[in-house]
Amino acid sequence: MLQATQTQQATAFVCPSLPENAFATDVLAGLGHTPKTLPSVWLYDQRGSELFEEITGLDEYYQTRTETALLGECSAAIADVVGPNAVVVEFGSGSSRKTPLLLDALVTPRAYVPVDIADDFLDDAVATLARRCPGIPMLPVRADFTRPFHLPPQLHDTQGPRLGFFPGSTIGNFAPGQAAAFLAHVGKMLGPHRRMVVGVDACKDPAVLLPAYDDARGVTAQFDLNVLVRINRELDGDLPLEAFRHEARFNAKASRIEMHLVAQRAFSATVLGHRFDFSAGESIHTENSYKYGQTEFRALANSAGWDIERVWLDARSRFAVYLLRAANGE
Ligand code: TRP
Repeated sequence: MLQATQTQQATAFVCPSLPENAFATDVLAGLGHTPKTLPSVWLYDQRGSELFEEITGLDEYYQTRTETALLGECSAAIADVVGPNAVVVEFGSGSSRKTPLLLDALVTPRAYVPVDIADDFLDDAVATLARRCPGIPMLPVRADFTRPFHLPPQLHDTQGPRLGFFPGSTIGNFAPGQAAAFLAHVGKMLGPHRRMVVGVDACKDPAVLLPAYDDARGVTAQFDLNVLVRINRELDGDLPLEAFRHEARFNAKASRIEMHLVAQRAFSATVLGHRFDFSAGESIHTENSYKYGQTEFRALANSAGWDIERVWLDARSRFAVYLLRAANGE
């Protein structure tokens, strides 16, 4: 039986599949690659997670407020479909700010499992949520959910519904093939009585999209540049921060926003003793944010063993909340 008292001293279960030196390995490989790239998961250290929180409150970043309003409208219907005693697993939980919308609506949720890479941030978020939703056991997992990971051992033998929660259009930060692999992996992990709530940013005018990823106050630029600060600090790097500029680009063909850190001049820098040359105008590609219409998202979900049970859209069709269930015949 899971005890609510675990809530208070919840220490994160560190998923064994997260290698100790994953950051170093990814950075050396990414900067050595042509074109240069960095996996976006490394944007989220403590400072990065704080800056991302700030992004979610920006005027230009319509996604968070639109999705929050939608979740307020649809959580009762979701709770009806899911039923009582569900284990809720959130991927990339960050501040867990949207979670109460779901936990408050569900009937006697059995446990909440936030999965995030930023461990201090995760601990604070869980402490806040435990005060906000007392009585629900919190079982945090420190893991990179972009790689295969496991649920905490306490849950291995539990029966009953399992609800995945993946808000924030984080699904759009995977390439479509990776998104399908992720959904399929999560489907296996959640098992046959599974449902999943996924927030997805819709295709729209780049004039609305671009400012959401390059705001007037430069918070998104700071967020993106913070990964260089982190490399310099944690990997003994000497990347010249002032030589980079954040840029958001719309790639219509791929239906995605791209984030780049663009070198403004030529230079060489070292990271962990390895030398990397940059030419003027060369970029490090740090993030993609894919945008999906309903047809495209349905095809993606279907390819990964899920059917769409319901969809909620805001009045301007900017953002969608999907409720997924196991595909027929599984
Ligand atoms: N999931 C968010 C999105 O794609 C992540 C995000 C928002 C982001 N703004 C960003 C990632 C800026 C990198 C840079 O909307």
